[in-house]
Amino acid sequence: MDDDNNSCAARPALPVDRLGRPLRDLRISVMDRCNFRCPYCMPESTYHEGFRFLGPKERLDFDEIERVARMAAELGVTKIRLTGGEPLLRPGLPDLVRRLSTLPGIEDVALTTNGVLLPRFAPALRQAGLRRVTVSLDSLDPAVFAHMSGGRGGLSAVLKGVDAACAAGFEGGVKINTVVQRGVNDAGVPDILARFRNTGVTVRLIEYMDVGNRNGWDHADVVPSSELRARIAALWPLEPLPPRYRGEVARRYRYADGAGEIGFVSSVSAPFCGACSRARLSSDGKLYTCLFATAGTDLRALLRGSARDAEADERLRTTLSRTWRQRTDRYSEERMHSRPGAVQASGREKIEMHYIGG
Ligand code: GTP
Ligand code: 5AD
Ligand code: SF4
Ligand code: SF4
Repeated sequence: MDDDNNSCAARPALPVDRLGRPLRDLRISVMDRCNFRCPYCMPESTYHEGFRFLGPKERLDFDEIERVARMAAELGVTKIRLTGGEPLLRPGLPDLVRRLSTLPGIEDVALTTNGVLLPRFAPALRQAGLRRVTVSLDSLDPAVFAHMSGGRGGLSAVLKGVDAACAAGFEGGVKINTVVQRGVNDAGVPDILARFRNTGVTVRLIEYMDVGNRNGWDHADVVPSSELRARIAALWPLEPLPPRYRGEVARRYRYADGAGEIGFVSSVSAPFCGACSRARLSSDGKLYTCLFATAGTDLRALLRGSARDAEADERLRTTLSRTWRQRTDRYSEERMHSRPGAVQASGREKIEMHYIGG
Protein backbone atom coordinates (compact mmCIF):
# COMPACT_ATOMS: atom_id res chain seq x y z
CA MET A 1 0.00 0.00 0.00
CA ASP A 2 1.25 3.49 -0.76
CA ASP A 3 2.41 5.16 2.41
CA ASP A 4 0.31 8.20 1.42
CA ASN A 5 -2.69 6.36 2.85
CA ASN A 6 -3.36 7.04 6.45
CA SER A 7 -5.33 4.49 8.38
CA CYS A 8 -8.32 6.47 9.62
CA ALA A 9 -9.28 8.51 6.56
CA ALA A 10 -10.65 7.24 3.28
CA ARG A 11 -8.92 10.10 1.48
CA PRO A 12 -5.14 9.87 1.11
CA ALA A 13 -3.09 12.64 2.74
CA LEU A 14 -1.97 15.30 0.28
CA PRO A 15 1.69 14.94 -0.61
CA VAL A 16 4.33 17.56 0.20
CA ASP A 17 7.82 17.52 -1.29
CA ARG A 18 11.10 17.17 0.63
CA LEU A 19 11.10 20.93 1.28
CA GLY A 20 7.55 20.86 2.65
CA ARG A 21 5.91 22.35 -0.44
CA PRO A 22 2.42 21.13 -1.44
CA LEU A 23 1.34 20.42 -5.02
CA ARG A 24 -1.13 23.10 -6.09
CA ASP A 25 -0.58 23.99 -9.75
CA LEU A 26 -0.38 21.82 -12.82
CA ARG A 27 0.94 23.37 -16.00
CA ILE A 28 0.04 21.27 -19.00
CA SER A 29 1.85 21.69 -22.31
CA VAL A 30 -0.60 20.53 -24.96
CA MET A 31 1.57 21.24 -28.02
CA ASP A 32 5.34 21.42 -28.47
CA ARG A 33 5.07 23.31 -31.78
CA CYS A 34 4.74 27.06 -32.09
CA ASN A 35 3.98 29.46 -34.93
CA PHE A 36 6.59 31.91 -33.51
CA ARG A 37 10.34 31.49 -33.14
CA CYS A 38 11.20 33.75 -30.20
CA PRO A 39 15.01 33.59 -30.00
CA TYR A 40 14.92 33.22 -26.19
CA CYS A 41 12.68 30.15 -26.42
CA MET A 42 12.77 28.50 -29.88
CA PRO A 43 15.64 29.99 -31.89
CA GLU A 44 15.16 29.42 -35.63
CA SER A 45 18.70 28.05 -35.89
CA THR A 46 17.56 24.97 -33.94
CA TYR A 47 13.85 24.90 -34.66
CA HIS A 48 14.02 24.99 -38.45
CA GLU A 49 12.09 23.08 -41.13
CA GLY A 50 13.96 19.88 -40.36
CA PHE A 51 13.39 19.87 -36.59
CA ARG A 52 11.49 16.81 -35.44
CA PHE A 53 8.55 17.81 -33.27
CA LEU A 54 6.29 15.25 -31.61
CA GLY A 55 3.80 13.44 -33.82
CA PRO A 56 0.09 13.40 -32.90
CA LYS A 57 0.26 9.88 -31.46
CA GLU A 58 3.21 10.79 -29.26
CA ARG A 59 1.15 13.51 -27.58
CA LEU A 60 -1.21 12.63 -24.77
CA ASP A 61 -4.79 12.64 -26.00
CA PHE A 62 -7.50 14.53 -24.10
CA ASP A 63 -8.64 11.43 -22.21
CA GLU A 64 -5.09 10.90 -20.99
CA ILE A 65 -4.59 14.54 -20.02
CA GLU A 66 -7.92 14.56 -18.20
CA ARG A 67 -6.97 11.43 -16.30
CA VAL A 68 -3.67 12.90 -15.10
CA ALA A 69 -5.39 16.17 -14.18
CA ARG A 70 -8.11 14.37 -12.22
CA MET A 71 -5.48 12.48 -10.27
CA ALA A 72 -3.45 15.64 -9.70
CA ALA A 73 -6.58 17.34 -8.35
CA GLU A 74 -7.01 14.48 -5.92
CA LEU A 75 -3.45 15.16 -4.76
CA GLY A 76 -4.03 18.88 -4.16
CA VAL A 77 -3.94 20.67 -7.50
CA THR A 78 -6.52 23.45 -7.77
CA LYS A 79 -5.06 25.50 -10.66
CA ILE A 80 -4.31 24.38 -14.19
CA ARG A 81 -2.51 26.40 -16.82
CA LEU A 82 -2.47 25.27 -20.45
CA THR A 83 0.74 26.10 -22.27
CA GLY A 84 2.77 25.03 -25.29
CA GLY A 85 4.66 25.77 -27.54
CA GLU A 86 1.49 27.42 -28.72
CA PRO A 87 -1.50 25.71 -27.09
CA LEU A 88 -4.02 27.07 -29.60
CA LEU A 89 -2.34 25.00 -32.33
CA ARG A 90 -3.79 21.95 -30.59
CA PRO A 91 -7.03 21.02 -32.36
CA GLY A 92 -10.15 21.10 -30.20
CA LEU A 93 -8.63 22.91 -27.23
CA PRO A 94 -12.01 24.24 -25.97
CA ASP A 95 -13.10 20.62 -25.50
CA LEU A 96 -10.13 20.01 -23.20
CA VAL A 97 -10.86 23.23 -21.30
CA ARG A 98 -14.43 22.06 -20.72
CA ARG A 99 -13.27 18.72 -19.36
CA LEU A 100 -10.62 20.22 -17.08
CA SER A 101 -12.68 23.08 -15.72
CA THR A 102 -15.41 20.71 -14.54
CA LEU A 103 -13.04 18.35 -12.69
CA PRO A 104 -13.70 18.13 -8.95
CA GLY A 105 -11.24 20.35 -7.07
CA ILE A 106 -10.15 22.44 -10.07
CA GLU A 107 -10.96 26.09 -9.36
CA ASP A 108 -9.05 27.83 -12.12
CA VAL A 109 -8.08 26.99 -15.69
CA ALA A 110 -5.84 29.53 -17.47
CA LEU A 111 -4.07 29.73 -20.82
CA THR A 112 -0.72 31.21 -21.91
CA THR A 113 -0.65 31.98 -25.63
CA ASN A 114 1.10 34.18 -28.17
CA GLY A 115 -2.39 35.51 -28.99
CA VAL A 116 -2.49 35.14 -32.77
CA LEU A 117 -5.28 32.55 -32.74
CA LEU A 118 -7.37 34.19 -30.02
CA PRO A 119 -9.73 36.02 -32.41
CA ARG A 120 -10.78 32.58 -33.66
CA PHE A 121 -10.96 30.76 -30.32
CA ALA A 122 -11.56 33.24 -27.47
CA PRO A 123 -15.38 33.00 -27.39
CA ALA A 124 -15.37 29.17 -27.44
CA LEU A 125 -12.67 29.04 -24.76
CA ARG A 126 -14.63 31.40 -22.54
CA GLN A 127 -17.79 29.33 -23.01
CA ALA A 128 -15.86 26.17 -22.21
CA GLY A 129 -14.92 27.56 -18.79
CA LEU A 130 -11.49 29.11 -19.31
CA ARG A 131 -11.14 31.72 -16.55
CA ARG A 132 -7.99 33.60 -17.52
CA VAL A 133 -5.79 34.33 -20.50
CA THR A 134 -2.17 35.52 -20.61
CA VAL A 135 -0.79 36.80 -23.91
CA SER A 136 2.97 37.04 -24.52
CA LEU A 137 3.92 40.41 -26.01
CA ASP A 138 7.46 41.76 -25.85
CA SER A 139 7.30 45.01 -27.81
CA LEU A 140 4.99 47.46 -29.54
CA ASP A 141 7.75 48.45 -31.94
CA PRO A 142 7.17 46.40 -35.11
CA ALA A 143 10.91 45.87 -35.75
CA VAL A 144 11.68 44.82 -32.16
CA PHE A 145 8.56 42.67 -32.10
CA ALA A 146 9.63 40.95 -35.33
CA HIS A 147 13.06 40.25 -33.87
CA MET A 148 11.66 38.90 -30.59
CA SER A 149 9.14 36.62 -32.28
CA GLY A 150 11.67 35.28 -34.75
CA GLY A 151 10.15 37.09 -37.71
CA ARG A 152 7.09 34.84 -37.80
CA GLY A 153 4.55 36.78 -35.81
CA GLY A 154 2.63 39.93 -36.64
CA LEU A 155 2.27 42.60 -33.98
CA SER A 156 -1.20 43.61 -35.17
CA ALA A 157 -2.38 39.99 -35.04
CA VAL A 158 -1.27 39.73 -31.40
CA LEU A 159 -2.98 43.00 -30.51
CA LYS A 160 -6.17 41.76 -32.18
CA GLY A 161 -5.80 38.65 -30.05
CA VAL A 162 -5.61 40.74 -26.88
CA ASP A 163 -8.71 42.66 -27.98
CA ALA A 164 -10.54 39.41 -28.66
CA ALA A 165 -9.64 38.11 -25.20
CA CYS A 166 -10.88 41.33 -23.59
CA ALA A 167 -14.10 41.21 -25.60
CA ALA A 168 -14.73 37.58 -24.61
CA GLY A 169 -14.98 38.69 -20.97
CA PHE A 170 -12.82 36.13 -19.19
CA GLU A 171 -13.87 36.07 -15.55
CA GLY A 172 -10.31 36.22 -14.18
CA GLY A 173 -9.12 38.79 -16.70
CA VAL A 174 -6.39 39.18 -19.30
CA LYS A 175 -2.66 39.60 -18.70
CA ILE A 176 0.33 40.40 -20.86
CA ASN A 177 3.69 38.67 -20.33
CA THR A 178 6.69 40.73 -21.43
CA VAL A 179 10.12 39.11 -21.29
CA VAL A 180 12.62 41.92 -20.83
CA GLN A 181 16.09 41.73 -22.39
CA ARG A 182 18.61 44.48 -21.84
CA GLY A 183 19.36 46.44 -25.00
CA VAL A 184 16.70 44.54 -26.93
CA ASN A 185 13.28 45.66 -25.67
CA ASP A 186 13.79 47.26 -22.25
CA ALA A 187 13.55 50.81 -23.65
CA GLY A 188 10.08 49.99 -25.03
CA VAL A 189 8.59 48.79 -21.74
CA PRO A 190 6.96 52.19 -20.97
CA ASP A 191 5.17 52.06 -24.34
CA ILE A 192 3.64 48.70 -23.43
CA LEU A 193 2.62 49.96 -20.01
CA ALA A 194 1.16 53.16 -21.45
CA ARG A 195 -0.96 51.18 -23.89
CA PHE A 196 -2.50 48.99 -21.21
CA ARG A 197 -2.89 51.54 -18.40
CA ASN A 198 -6.60 52.08 -17.63
CA THR A 199 -7.66 49.02 -19.64
CA GLY A 200 -7.87 46.44 -16.85
CA VAL A 201 -5.15 44.37 -18.57
CA THR A 202 -2.25 43.58 -16.21
CA VAL A 203 1.24 43.67 -17.73
CA ARG A 204 3.86 41.42 -16.15
CA LEU A 205 7.52 42.16 -16.76
CA ILE A 206 9.58 38.99 -16.71
CA GLU A 207 13.30 38.76 -16.11
CA TYR A 208 14.92 36.92 -19.01
CA MET A 209 15.73 33.41 -17.78
CA ASP A 210 18.26 30.73 -18.68
CA VAL A 211 15.61 28.22 -19.67
CA GLY A 212 16.60 25.36 -21.96
CA ASN A 213 20.06 25.03 -23.49
CA ARG A 214 19.84 26.99 -26.70
CA ASN A 215 19.03 30.63 -26.02
CA GLY A 216 22.61 31.75 -25.29
CA TRP A 217 21.54 33.30 -21.99
CA ASP A 218 23.91 35.76 -20.40
CA HIS A 219 23.38 37.30 -16.98
CA ALA A 220 24.25 40.70 -18.48
CA ASP A 221 21.07 40.52 -20.63
CA VAL A 222 18.83 40.46 -17.55
CA VAL A 223 17.33 43.73 -16.34
CA PRO A 224 16.74 43.17 -12.61
CA SER A 225 13.18 43.99 -11.61
CA SER A 226 14.42 46.52 -9.04
CA GLU A 227 16.07 48.55 -11.82
CA LEU A 228 13.07 48.33 -14.09
CA ARG A 229 10.72 49.23 -11.25
CA ALA A 230 12.73 52.37 -10.49
CA ARG A 231 12.60 53.39 -14.15
CA ILE A 232 8.84 52.89 -14.27
CA ALA A 233 8.19 54.58 -10.94
CA ALA A 234 9.93 57.69 -12.28
CA LEU A 235 7.18 57.87 -14.92
CA TRP A 236 4.23 56.61 -12.89
CA PRO A 237 4.61 56.22 -9.11
CA LEU A 238 3.93 52.66 -7.94
CA GLU A 239 2.60 51.19 -4.70
CA PRO A 240 3.22 47.55 -3.69
CA LEU A 241 0.24 45.20 -3.41
CA PRO A 242 0.13 42.17 -1.11
CA PRO A 243 0.51 38.71 -2.69
CA ARG A 244 -2.80 37.08 -3.57
CA TYR A 245 -1.54 33.65 -2.56
CA ARG A 246 1.58 32.16 -0.97
CA GLY A 247 4.28 31.70 -3.57
CA GLU A 248 2.71 34.03 -6.13
CA VAL A 249 5.07 34.20 -9.10
CA ALA A 250 4.69 37.91 -9.78
CA ARG A 251 5.24 40.74 -7.28
CA ARG A 252 2.29 43.05 -7.79
CA TYR A 253 2.23 46.86 -7.82
CA ARG A 254 -0.51 49.37 -8.56
CA TYR A 255 -0.18 52.73 -10.21
CA ALA A 256 -0.64 55.39 -7.54
CA ASP A 257 -2.89 57.30 -9.96
CA GLY A 258 -5.34 54.38 -10.10
CA ALA A 259 -4.57 53.32 -13.69
CA GLY A 260 -4.33 49.62 -12.79
CA GLU A 261 -1.74 47.10 -11.69
CA ILE A 262 1.47 45.57 -13.05
CA GLY A 263 3.64 42.65 -11.95
CA PHE A 264 7.31 41.73 -11.89
CA VAL A 265 8.46 38.13 -12.30
CA SER A 266 11.95 38.12 -10.83
CA SER A 267 13.07 34.54 -11.05
CA VAL A 268 16.73 35.60 -11.53
CA SER A 269 17.11 38.42 -8.99
CA ALA A 270 14.56 37.25 -6.39
CA PRO A 271 13.77 33.55 -6.85
CA PHE A 272 10.49 32.18 -5.52
CA CYS A 273 11.39 28.49 -5.21
CA GLY A 274 10.60 28.50 -1.48
CA ALA A 275 6.88 28.27 -2.08
CA CYS A 276 6.91 26.69 -5.54
CA SER A 277 3.94 24.38 -5.84
CA ARG A 278 4.08 23.83 -9.62
CA ALA A 279 4.35 20.59 -11.56
CA ARG A 280 4.61 20.49 -15.33
CA LEU A 281 3.28 17.92 -17.76
CA SER A 282 4.85 17.81 -21.22
CA SER A 283 2.75 17.10 -24.29
CA ASP A 284 4.19 13.57 -24.47
CA GLY A 285 3.26 12.85 -20.89
CA LYS A 286 6.38 13.41 -18.83
CA LEU A 287 5.97 14.98 -15.43
CA TYR A 288 8.59 17.58 -14.45
CA THR A 289 8.92 19.09 -11.01
CA CYS A 290 10.88 22.19 -12.12
CA LEU A 291 11.04 24.49 -15.12
CA PHE A 292 14.78 23.79 -15.17
CA ALA A 293 14.55 20.02 -14.69
CA THR A 294 16.82 17.67 -16.55
CA ALA A 295 14.60 14.60 -16.37
CA GLY A 296 10.91 13.82 -16.07
CA THR A 297 8.76 10.91 -14.97
CA ASP A 298 7.12 9.09 -17.85
CA LEU A 299 3.37 8.94 -17.19
CA ARG A 300 2.47 8.03 -20.77
CA ALA A 301 3.89 4.55 -20.37
CA LEU A 302 1.63 4.08 -17.36
CA LEU A 303 -1.38 5.58 -19.10
CA ARG A 304 -1.00 3.37 -22.14
CA GLY A 305 0.52 0.32 -20.53
CA SER A 306 -2.49 -1.50 -19.14
CA ALA A 307 -6.23 -1.70 -19.02
CA ARG A 308 -7.96 1.33 -17.55
CA ASP A 309 -9.10 0.04 -14.20
CA ALA A 310 -8.86 0.90 -10.52
CA GLU A 311 -5.47 -0.79 -10.24
CA ALA A 312 -4.04 1.26 -13.12
CA ASP A 313 -5.44 4.43 -11.55
CA GLU A 314 -3.79 3.54 -8.26
CA ARG A 315 -0.43 3.03 -10.02
CA LEU A 316 -0.74 6.43 -11.63
CA ARG A 317 -1.72 8.10 -8.36
CA THR A 318 1.17 6.46 -6.54
CA THR A 319 3.65 7.55 -9.22
CA LEU A 320 2.42 11.14 -9.17
CA SER A 321 2.46 11.28 -5.42
CA ARG A 322 5.87 9.64 -5.08
CA THR A 323 7.41 11.92 -7.72
CA TRP A 324 6.17 14.96 -5.82
CA ARG A 325 7.25 13.65 -2.42
CA GLN A 326 10.79 13.05 -3.70
CA ARG A 327 11.11 16.56 -5.14
CA THR A 328 14.00 18.78 -4.01
CA ASP A 329 14.09 21.31 -6.91
CA ARG A 330 15.12 24.90 -6.22
CA TYR A 331 17.07 25.76 -9.35
CA SER A 332 16.60 29.53 -9.33
CA GLU A 333 17.73 29.78 -5.71
CA GLU A 334 20.79 27.68 -6.54
CA ARG A 335 21.57 29.93 -9.49
CA MET A 336 21.41 32.98 -7.26
CA HIS A 337 23.63 31.53 -4.56
CA SER A 338 26.31 30.11 -6.89
CA ARG A 339 29.15 31.77 -8.76
CA PRO A 340 27.92 33.63 -11.88
CA GLY A 341 27.50 31.12 -14.70
CA ALA A 342 28.35 28.08 -12.56
CA VAL A 343 24.91 26.47 -12.66
CA GLN A 344 24.62 27.01 -16.41
CA ALA A 345 28.11 25.63 -16.99
CA SER A 346 27.46 22.52 -14.93
CA GLY A 347 26.83 20.53 -18.11
CA ARG A 348 23.26 19.56 -17.19
CA GLU A 349 20.94 19.48 -20.22
CA LYS A 350 17.71 21.14 -19.19
CA ILE A 351 14.37 20.57 -20.84
CA GLU A 352 13.43 23.14 -23.46
CA MET A 353 10.78 25.78 -22.76
CA HIS A 354 8.69 25.06 -25.88
CA TYR A 355 8.38 21.45 -24.72
CA ILE A 356 7.32 22.14 -21.17
CA GLY A 357 5.63 25.55 -21.45
CA GLY A 358 6.67 28.42 -19.23
P1 GTP B 1 -0.69 33.44 -12.43
O1 GTP B 1 -0.09 34.08 -11.24
O2 GTP B 1 -1.53 32.26 -12.11
O3 GTP B 1 -1.37 34.40 -13.35
O4 GTP B 1 0.33 32.76 -13.35
P2 GTP B 1 1.87 32.69 -13.45
O5 GTP B 1 2.49 33.85 -12.76
O6 GTP B 1 2.27 31.33 -13.09
O7 GTP B 1 1.97 33.00 -14.96
P3 GTP B 1 2.71 32.66 -16.25
O8 GTP B 1 2.47 31.27 -16.58
O9 GTP B 1 2.25 33.69 -17.17
O10 GTP B 1 4.24 32.87 -15.92
C1 GTP B 1 4.87 34.10 -15.99
C2 GTP B 1 6.36 33.92 -16.16
O11 GTP B 1 6.87 33.33 -14.99
C3 GTP B 1 6.76 33.02 -17.31
O12 GTP B 1 7.92 33.52 -17.94
C4 GTP B 1 7.06 31.74 -16.67
O13 GTP B 1 7.99 31.01 -17.36
C5 GTP B 1 7.60 32.20 -15.33
N1 GTP B 1 7.33 31.17 -14.34
C6 GTP B 1 6.12 30.63 -14.05
N2 GTP B 1 6.25 29.69 -13.11
C7 GTP B 1 7.56 29.63 -12.83
C8 GTP B 1 8.34 28.83 -11.97
O14 GTP B 1 7.82 27.97 -11.27
N3 GTP B 1 9.68 29.06 -11.93
C9 GTP B 1 10.26 29.99 -12.68
N4 GTP B 1 11.56 30.15 -12.56
N5 GTP B 1 9.58 30.76 -13.52
C10 GTP B 1 8.25 30.57 -13.60
N1 5AD C 1 12.85 33.86 -19.99
C1 5AD C 1 11.71 34.36 -19.43
N2 5AD C 1 10.48 34.08 -19.88
C2 5AD C 1 10.39 33.30 -20.97
N3 5AD C 1 9.32 32.89 -21.66
C3 5AD C 1 9.74 32.08 -22.66
N4 5AD C 1 11.09 31.99 -22.64
C4 5AD C 1 11.52 32.75 -21.60
C5 5AD C 1 12.79 33.06 -21.07
N5 5AD C 1 13.92 32.59 -21.59
C6 5AD C 1 7.95 33.30 -21.35
C7 5AD C 1 7.12 33.56 -22.57
C8 5AD C 1 5.73 33.29 -22.06
C9 5AD C 1 5.90 32.48 -20.83
C10 5AD C 1 5.20 31.20 -20.84
O1 5AD C 1 7.28 32.27 -20.68
O2 5AD C 1 7.21 34.85 -23.04
O3 5AD C 1 5.04 34.45 -21.76
FE1 SF4 D 1 6.24 30.29 -29.03
FE2 SF4 D 1 5.85 31.36 -26.63
FE3 SF4 D 1 8.16 30.13 -27.18
FE4 SF4 D 1 7.62 32.45 -28.33
S1 SF4 D 1 7.90 32.09 -26.10
S2 SF4 D 1 8.44 30.62 -29.36
S3 SF4 D 1 5.41 32.34 -28.61
S4 SF4 D 1 6.15 29.18 -27.08
FE1 SF4 E 1 9.86 26.17 -8.98
FE2 SF4 E 1 12.04 25.34 -10.27
FE3 SF4 E 1 10.98 27.74 -10.77
FE4 SF4 E 1 12.24 27.28 -8.45
S1 SF4 E 1 13.15 27.28 -10.50
S2 SF4 E 1 10.29 28.35 -8.73
S3 SF4 E 1 11.64 25.14 -8.08
S4 SF4 E 1 10.01 25.75 -11.16
